[in-house]
Amino acid sequence: MVTGLLGARARAIAGAVPQDRSDQVSPRQRIPLEHWRFTLGDPPNVRTSLLYDIRPQAPIGDVSPEPPATPDTPVIKPWILPSGNAFVKDPARRRVRPPGNPGGEVAYVARDFDDSSWRAVTVPHDYAIEGPFATGGGGGMGRLPSAGIAWYRTHFDIPSTRAARSLFLDIDGAMSYSAVWLNGQLVGGWPYGYASFRLDLSPYLKTGDNVIAVRIDNPPASSRWYPGAGIYRHAWLTDVRDLHVGAWGTIVRTADVSATSATVTMTITVDNDAAAPATATLDTAIYELDATERAGLRPVATIAPTELAIAGRASGTIQTRARIPGPRFWGVPPRQAPNRYVAVTTVRQRGTVVDVYETPFGIRTTRFDANGGFFLNGEHVKLNGVCNHHDLGALGTAINVRALERQLELLAEMGCNAIRTSHNPPAPELLALTDRMGFLVMDEAFDQWARQKTANDYHLLYADWHEQDLRALIRRDRNHPSVVMWSIGNEVGEQTGGDAGAAMAAELTAICHDEDPTRPVISAMNSAPATSLFPAAIDLVGLNYQGAGLFRGSPQYPLFHQNFPGKFIVGSETAATLSSRGVYTFPVADGAGTPAAATAGEDTATRQVSSYDLYFAPWAYAPDKEFAAQERYPFVGGEFVWTGFDYLGEPTPFDASRSSYYGAIDLAGFRKDRFYLYQSVWRPNQPMVHLVPHWTWPERAGQVTPVHVYTSGTEAELFLNGKSLGHKTKGPFEYRLRWDDVVYEPGELRVVAYREGRQWATDSIATAGDAVRLLLSADRTTISADGIDLTFVTLTVADRNGRLVPRAMNTIAFEVAGPGEIVATDNGDPTDMTPFPATTRHAFNGLALAIVRGRREVGTVTVIARSDGLQEARLVIRVL
Ligand code: GAL
Repeated sequence: MVTGLLGARARAIAGAVPQDRSDQVSPRQRIPLEHWRFTLGDPPNVRTSLLYDIRPQAPIGDVSPEPPATPDTPVIKPWILPSGNAFVKDPARRRVRPPGNPGGEVAYVARDFDDSSWRAVTVPHDYAIEGPFATGGGGGMGRLPSAGIAWYRTHFDIPSTRAARSLFLDIDGAMSYSAVWLNGQLVGGWPYGYASFRLDLSPYLKTGDNVIAVRIDNPPASSRWYPGAGIYRHAWLTDVRDLHVGAWGTIVRTADVSATSATVTMTITVDNDAAAPATATLDTAIYELDATERAGLRPVATIAPTELAIAGRASGTIQTRARIPGPRFWGVPPRQAPNRYVAVTTVRQRGTVVDVYETPFGIRTTRFDANGGFFLNGEHVKLNGVCNHHDLGALGTAINVRALERQLELLAEMGCNAIRTSHNPPAPELLALTDRMGFLVMDEAFDQWARQKTANDYHLLYADWHEQDLRALIRRDRNHPSVVMWSIGNEVGEQTGGDAGAAMAAELTAICHDEDPTRPVISAMNSAPATSLFPAAIDLVGLNYQGAGLFRGSPQYPLFHQNFPGKFIVGSETAATLSSRGVYTFPVADGAGTPAAATAGEDTATRQVSSYDLYFAPWAYAPDKEFAAQERYPFVGGEFVWTGFDYLGEPTPFDASRSSYYGAIDLAGFRKDRFYLYQSVWRPNQPMVHLVPHWTWPERAGQVTPVHVYTSGTEAELFLNGKSLGHKTKGPFEYRLRWDDVVYEPGELRVVAYREGRQWATDSIATAGDAVRLLLSADRTTISADGIDLTFVTLTVADRNGRLVPRAMNTIAFEVAGPGEIVATDNGDPTDMTPFPATTRHAFNGLALAIVRGRREVGTVTVIARSDGLQEARLVIRVL
């Protein structure tokens, strides 16, 4: 525990380097601001005076229509814009804060306002995820009450003995239009809900109690998916001496990389917040980091002390160099390993340590080859990527490291090695994990520029904020080895905007190059023609769907390759196949499949889509088509599938639902059949075979019930009740084996897969009996007693042999005994409108999920599941 500032509320964040190894305890403190009071809505009669800017009305039928604002309505934008000044290159374009203190009269910002009746919440906090789900209006934003206004307040203490120091509020992400007051003074804010930002609290600090008030104003019709709501990522106080490393103030680059050595160049910016000039002496030691984030005992390189003279209230930058002998490269499994280093920079003033700053980084080389694809450390690596939105299913957008890690573990199991952070800057924790676990990242800035997709989306901010948002993203993320390219936009309207669109692409690309000349820039294009100027303005070509050819379309990969012979091409968004886990409809589409429709793949009565993985959005196609295109055009660097996980919102093709059908993994984190189709191609050396569908169809006796087989083998033989239904071999550009004329009879379906004539893998599935009992299992049965860690508990409705009952929808009541709680439940059913915190939920096709968190207390938590007429289940979780 840190004492002094914040008193007992503070918890120091352990750095990579144990304190007894650095020569002094760092005077830098990064203190999580976890405990806040929260309320919805403004106090009466202040609504319009705190508006960031006039914005259009939400379209009729959208959630939470807003009261009208007129052109005379006062807005606070002029006071918010200066918060972005550090990211505006041209000094003439930096904003001067006008006089005055908007909102100063609002009760909620006052230091002495009594907020004790407000709800106590823990940040990261997503205030909309509890629901309820709306049944009217559009489904695009997830039917959750994210639109509207909310306030957060938190207190901290400044002791009277405090020496000269600066204090910053760092918010990793707040959705959206945050405005921040300290002790009644408007400090600033940041409108883009995905941006991480820093505000300087120092000018408004008082001795004793200090109060931060944050106002969130989340517009309706602001997004094409669930954006989340509130301070949904971490908030920190960064407490430093006046002389300190600046915000995201280090840049690590590596050059002359070989097996024997690498040159590390470090650019370090030091801020001097004092009025008097200062001289900083900087030295840096570089350590290897192990898988548990610990630094090695001895540095592998050191950079000798260098002096930097800085004027009062100014910054200074120096560049230093070190050579690392025998570098261990950062790479992606399975052939490479994500080795990392940490650079520990010590800043001294007149011999006293005033700052210690850690910069984790990796050493790797990348090459984006127009003809050969992507090379990492000289080795070809196909990008087996997925696009993911930022929500964590039933947990909403409130960031939780274990929930993110679980997503990545499942994706790695599928063979995925790359993530596209569609369509916005990710949480910093995601990139820490992709660094540690070894995933490549396409780090994406925007879903729209100046042309709108929805009434209140980013196009309202583009003109004022695109430079700040893009520079901030790159400065934050450029030391992550996992980030290999910057995406400046997804399917922006400007892609077909002729010269003007191309000029905007060129401007954004130039900003990226200015901040980071080491990584190429991409934009995901679904309609820019191969002859247009737009792709010419950007380093890499990202094609959404059109690469492989839209449904019945012809592949555009060769045309772009021909027109841009020097540019690397990747399928930045592919497939958009739709399915509901465990749902199968008949008859089954033949050939390459077909867009989902009432007559094809959709079960309109239940709003589900068949899982034969042959039904897709009207512009899209089955995974198989992309596999074929990738194989036919080996110059293509790989693909990013839409999507890895189902997400909240965009519930195509059933707008009345709550969540999407696009994932290879459902919203609860349960693998759909498609998971295995990708695994069969992406992990060719992993023996596996998977049968589709389940085999419990009492109503289908005597009817044709096609069986599809996904395998990393080359051929397979299928057996029904011991009788062979034939042996099939994959032809060229075929990725599944199909037995389309199997006549259903109960019993056992078994498949034996072969590779090059040798048995490779087997799978079997038997007809289940009646549901008689519940089974519980967990991804981890020991979790840490930090009040944050989670275990994901899977409930299976089983027959007497312990087999999953594949269409069981029994209502399950979950309960815990001991020091833990059920945070949320889910089942992966996109139509389930039961709020996520409910502890009673129906199983969906035999499965349900309970997400359990331990309290900050060591003990044993028993998870209990009950359902009428079924034998209950119990599972013990240790909280240590
Ligand atoms: C793409 C778009 C994605 C998502 C997807 C659904 O065109 O980039 O954000 O909307 O379609 O298929």
